[in-house]
Amino acid sequence: MEVIITKDYDQMSKVAADIIADQIKRRPNCVLGLATGGTPVGTYKELIRRHKEGKLDFSKVVTFNLDEYVGLPVTHDQSYHYFMHDNLFNHVNVAPQNVHVPPGMAPDIEAACAWYEQEIDKAGGIDLQLLGIGGDGHIAFNEPGSSLASRTRLKTLTEETIKDNARFFEKESDVPRFAVTMGVGTILEARKLLLIANGKKKAKVTAEFIEGPITSQITATALQLHPNAVVVLDEEAASELKQRDYYKWVYAQKPKVAEAVKA
Ligand code: PGA
Repeated sequence: MEVIITKDYDQMSKVAADIIADQIKRRPNCVLGLATGGTPVGTYKELIRRHKEGKLDFSKVVTFNLDEYVGLPVTHDQSYHYFMHDNLFNHVNVAPQNVHVPPGMAPDIEAACAWYEQEIDKAGGIDLQLLGIGGDGHIAFNEPGSSLASRTRLKTLTEETIKDNARFFEKESDVPRFAVTMGVGTILEARKLLLIANGKKKAKVTAEFIEGPITSQITATALQLHPNAVVVLDEEAASELKQRDYYKWVYAQKPKVAEAVKA
């Protein structure tokens, strides 16, 4: 796992946008896995800025979102469908038919989850999956106890997640109790993973998922199983990492490694 420690939220967002933009440039018809929440907003702003400057073309990009609340219509301003349009899709030239968000209102959720997995397969799999991390260590809505081999399915949210997400709703009781989410197994099949985290509140769980043992109690630890995972943090989120100085040293050596490989 590559760990990149940046000075603040803005830098974290820029580095994450660099990685995503690089993917789009290398493969203009790439398949991106996208995330919601407070963390990726700055990354999306940066991608929009680059698009508006004419430096980034989304016309052939295909997207799959990680998760969606059950029971919120797509027009609800807290649905993830709405969030993605508001924070990214409405501001770039992504083709509407290339956008996929798990269906949270399907009459048959199980069938809808199977369909979502098939759509990912049909698209050739995900090239780069963006991820945040929840206070309880979840990736997507894979709450503690989720199988590390899980696929897209219905999950019941933890009390911690409901409390964390209450800030986006008028009151805590408005937060949906269920979500449809890609599984940990689905996420691990992406060819590259990019997890971003910022702020003191994420410091403990960040140290646990990068340096602690792999456990379904902290589903982000599954990143340790992935051969191509990058984590971009700000200083605060990185503050409890034991190997913090080593990660910084490795990152500083990167240009030298590239030169040595070329020579
Ligand atoms: P946040 O959520 O970006 O709002 O902190 C992250 C998550 O729950 O995955």
